[in-house]
Amino acid sequence: MNIATLNWGDLTPELFLAQYWQKKPLLIKQAFKGFEDTITADELAGLAMETEIESRIVSDNNHGDWQVDHGPFEDFSQYGESNWTLLVQAVNNWSGPTNNLLTPFSFIPRWRIDDVMVSFSTPNGGVGAHLDQYDVFIIQGSGKRRWQVGAPNNNLSTLLPHPDLKQVSAFEPLIDEITEAGDLLYIPPNHPHNGVSIENSVNFSVGFQAPSSQELWSSFADKLIDNNLGEQRFSDATRQVTTASTLISKDDQQQLKAFMLEQLDNTEMFEQFIGQYLTQSHHALELLMPVTDIDEEKLADILSEPEILFMPVSGLKAAIIDESKTTLFLNGDIFHIDEQTLSLAKLLAGQTPLTTNQVKSFNTCLKNTQLLTSVLNKGYWYIE
Ligand code: SIN
Ligand code: CO
Repeated sequence: MNIATLNWGDLTPELFLAQYWQKKPLLIKQAFKGFEDTITADELAGLAMETEIESRIVSDNNHGDWQVDHGPFEDFSQYGESNWTLLVQAVNNWSGPTNNLLTPFSFIPRWRIDDVMVSFSTPNGGVGAHLDQYDVFIIQGSGKRRWQVGAPNNNLSTLLPHPDLKQVSAFEPLIDEITEAGDLLYIPPNHPHNGVSIENSVNFSVGFQAPSSQELWSSFADKLIDNNLGEQRFSDATRQVTTASTLISKDDQQQLKAFMLEQLDNTEMFEQFIGQYLTQSHHALELLMPVTDIDEEKLADILSEPEILFMPVSGLKAAIIDESKTTLFLNGDIFHIDEQTLSLAKLLAGQTPLTTNQVKSFNTCLKNTQLLTSVLNKGYWYIE
């Protein structure tokens, strides 16, 4: 199955961005022809048994008496045959085929994508009508589900049928369809939606990240503090006499604001901050550190074997800052690069597996060897 092809029908990514992205919900029937689940229900249940993986089961067995249980789960027998959904976060960090579901969405930068949440729902299972603050593409996997999506509406009331479950009151749907394997639903932020399973059904939700202003400011402040970069003090050598000593003048306010903004205008620091912030995974990654560090000599040894593949760990978020191109960011970690290492850095960021021959060609330059070994030693890439 070639998952990389998204059949847009009459649309194109450009038209989608102009007409739907952050504006209107959309259902594309058969966007992925011949779609097959990238993970089985049993494998999903296995992930929900792991402590480092976030999972929950939402059930509504007594019609209106919603329950939420949080993983890790030991067994699922108590939930019966219907009225519940298992939701597992960041499945793409643990399942390579699920991570490949991100490829069709690479018309949007990788940093904007958060993770792939996978749900398994039994008949009548769902989390109820609700809003999300983030854009989401939901791919229908096996089974059928009725999806309803409405427009933002301030008259909807918030319901809290369980302390861990926020829902909204009934809404007028703009989309009301039964989705089948390969259908793709796009839901912009704050659009009420409700998915109710018709039969056992698997959904893959490609969720986006949109940092809030307060999250950005708070992380930026952390960066300043951690690196002792904000220790300079306000100065005002050109101060004039004031006749209103209790006022904080407009001019003083402007100067203080400018003093603060100087930090944001420090390009090098801003690039480091934003690259680290946007590539940091919000969920555990399966880092694959070598038992002992790989140095140049050991890498040469490894490369004497012909059929080695160098692979990124699943779900890794990577980026290179445009223009300056002095840093490769992997999961919030900084790797300094220059003209000589840029080609390798692009491949590492692009996350295409590298063959022995490719690595050998880079290995003629010591800086490339050092970049690759440090990425391997941190466990972001591994040798298969
Ligand atoms: C689900 O797959 O059950 C929930 C997806 C969502 O509504 O965000
Ligand atoms: Co939702």
